Amino acid sequence: MNILILGGGGREHALAWAILQNPKCDRLIVAPGNAGIAQIAECAQFDICDGGAVVEFAEAEAIDFVVVGPEAPLAAGVADRLAEAGIPVFGPSAGAARLESSKRFTKEICDAAGAPTAAWARFDAVDPARAYIREQGAPIVVKADGLAAGKGVIVAMTEAEALAAVEDILGGAFGSAGAEVVIEEFMDGEEASFFVLCDGETVLPVGTAQDHKRVGEGDTGPNTGGMGAYSPAPIMTPSVTEAALEQIVKPTMAEMAKRGTPYRGVLYAGLMIKDGKPRLVEYNVRFGDPECQALMLRLGAQALDLMLAAAEGRLDERHVNWAEDFAMTVVLAAQGYPGTYEKGTIIGGLEDMPETSWEMMFHAGTSESDGHVTATGGRVLNATARGRTLQEARDRAYAMAEAVDWPDGFYRRDIGWRALE
Ligand code: AMP
Ligand code: GLY
Repeated sequence: MNILILGGGGREHALAWAILQNPKCDRLIVAPGNAGIAQIAECAQFDICDGGAVVEFAEAEAIDFVVVGPEAPLAAGVADRLAEAGIPVFGPSAGAARLESSKRFTKEICDAAGAPTAAWARFDAVDPARAYIREQGAPIVVKADGLAAGKGVIVAMTEAEALAAVEDILGGAFGSAGAEVVIEEFMDGEEASFFVLCDGETVLPVGTAQDHKRVGEGDTGPNTGGMGAYSPAPIMTPSVTEAALEQIVKPTMAEMAKRGTPYRGVLYAGLMIKDGKPRLVEYNVRFGDPECQALMLRLGAQALDLMLAAAEGRLDERHVNWAEDFAMTVVLAAQGYPGTYEKGTIIGGLEDMPETSWEMMFHAGTSESDGHVTATGGRVLNATARGRTLQEARDRAYAMAEAVDWPDGFYRRDIGWRALE
């Protein structure tokens, strides 16, 4: 098969690595890719959010299967265009991708499906939103309705913070993504990520993980895209997993099918767990980044068979072969991230990295120039390792991170602290 992956982060490097483990893959192209992906696959440059351009490229290269990594092409309808052209695609339609592209839509679906989530209200004007915040009190959570590159959620510990967030969002700080604001009850508890594949009907869990969103050790400082993750998440016990599946995920998928927008692809449920009961924080219509890196190392070659089955409506024929193992990924980021950081700094020490089914250095924001790997983004490398215990996975991942020679980068040294405590 000729396979095309859309995206160029650590998630897509991990997807590329897993797909290449499967003998069904004859040729792999990744657009736009990065320096690490370029070592294992062909890279191509075109606008991955332009459905017409994606279809044209896929037809010209006789692509048999397209895997969409990030949410932006999905929200832009790239999966719809590929489906119309008869090209099998892993990733939901724009209508189904609204589970990520509109917070209000997700809350409405949860209500219709009876899925437990935070109490909420929506506003498109400042005054009623302010009145609601005063009535509810803090802590309270204010969200821009649309896609805001992970920055549209403000967990306000004071009323003043919440009021300022409403003014910011409705005042245009996030453009059209902030035309509406969703205000939610603050949920207390421990967060976990639950990943399932869906083919429009059948739902198949493919793993759990925990991310570390804050930049600083001890979960302090500003939010980031994620500074490290491990899988599985110990808090996702069999009973919590069962509750998440039966009360949240399956009713949501049934509601999507009922509305004529069946969901096909991977659904990432962000959960808040308190006293053994999960509630939905948010859905994403893609694999998490960096959670995907840990998941792919655990799934290996079967990931391609599972994604094909999801795209072709054959998930009922499949099951996941689980090893009793753990994986961890440690994100190396540019000094200054998630604020401003320098680009083009040189990264050394990558030549001698182990590349096995136990240890992989996945690249995120890297490119290659004059024979050097340079940093081109905020999150740059993902030291990812598997082990029979989480401690073993952790030790391997940190040994890789330490072997990187990059004075302009940093990483958190406490990934997995909650699970290892
Ligand atoms: P989201 O972009 O929706 O994932 O939100 C980003 C982060 O904000 C989540 O991972 C949570 O840590 C936090 N968050 C979002 N909604 C809530 C809520 N209702 N209660 C508590 N924390 C929340
Ligand atoms: N790591 C969080 C996310 O991918 O949204």
